[in-house]
Amino acid sequence: MDHLYNRLSQLASSYGQEHLLRYYETLSESSKSKLLRQIEQIDFAAIAGLSWHAREAANPDKAISGAITPIEAYDAAAFGEQEREHFIRKGWELLRQGKVGAFVVAGGQGSRLGHEGPKGTYDIGLPSGKSLFQLQAERLLNVSRRAGRPIPWYVMTSPDNERETVQFFESSGYFGYAKEDIFFFRQNVLPALDPDGRIVLSAKDEIAMAPSGNGDAFRSAKQSGALADMRRRGVEWVFYYNVDNALIQIADPLFVGIAAHYNHPIATKVAEKSHPEEKVGILCLRDGRPAVVEYTEVPKELMVETDRNGRLVYGLGNLSIHLFRADFMEEHAEADIAYHAAHKKIKSVNVEGEPVVPERPNAYKFERFIFDFFPLIERMTVLNIRREEEFAPVKNKDGEDSPESARRLLFDLHRRWLEQAGVPAHRLKGRDIEISPLVSYGGEGLTPSVCESLLG
Ligand code: UTP
Repeated sequence: MDHLYNRLSQLASSYGQEHLLRYYETLSESSKSKLLRQIEQIDFAAIAGLSWHAREAANPDKAISGAITPIEAYDAAAFGEQEREHFIRKGWELLRQGKVGAFVVAGGQGSRLGHEGPKGTYDIGLPSGKSLFQLQAERLLNVSRRAGRPIPWYVMTSPDNERETVQFFESSGYFGYAKEDIFFFRQNVLPALDPDGRIVLSAKDEIAMAPSGNGDAFRSAKQSGALADMRRRGVEWVFYYNVDNALIQIADPLFVGIAAHYNHPIATKVAEKSHPEEKVGILCLRDGRPAVVEYTEVPKELMVETDRNGRLVYGLGNLSIHLFRADFMEEHAEADIAYHAAHKKIKSVNVEGEPVVPERPNAYKFERFIFDFFPLIERMTVLNIRREEEFAPVKNKDGEDSPESARRLLFDLHRRWLEQAGVPAHRLKGRDIEISPLVSYGGEGLTPSVCESLLG
């Protein structure tokens, strides 16, 4: 161990990170080796690059770079009947051929929601008590059943939540999914840095690590063998989504069909912003290439600009619902996309080595974002959808984007399905009815007898 200590001590010092071993002599033997193992994993040269990002992020005068122009989108509601049917048929064809996979990013910390455990295990309070993972599994089962072919499901976890995630699936019998069609894999983590670029210790024997963002998904999929699994199965299109969207229409045949028809390496679903200041990244062109610009970066005059029909020119909100061509993922899995620094409250130790829980943000964590792959291509397929049908994010404990707002959106959607199926308004008055994804994926199959059984 002395040899390892000497080597790592020298290495850390050469990068100005000698404080990592400040408490080493006071530690037990097991803590010593735990700390050395962590230090061994660190890519000090890469961290030196990240500290530049931390300083840049702290700069309040940071201006948007590049020329922003609008991007063209297809309006899902404006397709003619025939065109729509053509896309849906194409989507089903690919699903039947086993060419579509599902890919959920579930490695985040879910700090705003504050739920103990992986976010996908969260029950948003529906009468059925189903977790987010169960809702997703059942939607996938519905589509698989109709396609007559399983849809492989790739679940990205983090070192923090992998065990609990896998156990949750196991103890729920994989929600009826075949175990061999679910591929769990872990994403990378990175150390947090203080404003001077020094790695933060969360305890005398522990480095503060955080997941490196959903933009590391392809790299982690490659390293874990998930991409190889896709290749082996002949998957051509990968449906990517966030674990916390309670209305996600996974592997939606219309979207698959449109993506395959235009065959750009990426397709994405967007929805119009509800108001100009809505806190959502917008899809546009930056220097002529597809990009998502964060709401904090959009200049005020662009944020409010409208066209002659009164629609926001920069109003296409990013929903994190994408289809990636598998060959694109392979080709760019190791692309060096940027890291974004986020100023956070991160548990640390003071000079005496005592734990400190900060009241204000004290350090930076670094994340890659999946949408930073967009500028790698020249054109992408953009589908403008109605958010109330497909987007119910569960981010906060209460208020906007909370379990309560997601539940409301789901009940409202299911009410509309029942109305469209012919159920008279008086029978729905004052009632919140939940329709299992095993019964209906998108409002289909609600025959009078199914409706009767739902109404009870
Ligand atoms: P968010 O940006 O909403 O982050 O992630 P979060 O970690 O879930 O929540 P907060 O910000 O701590 O409250 C969007 C999606 O990306 C995944 C999340 O699990 C979620 O599905 N994600 C995020 C990862 O898979 N890995 C990460 O490192 C970060």
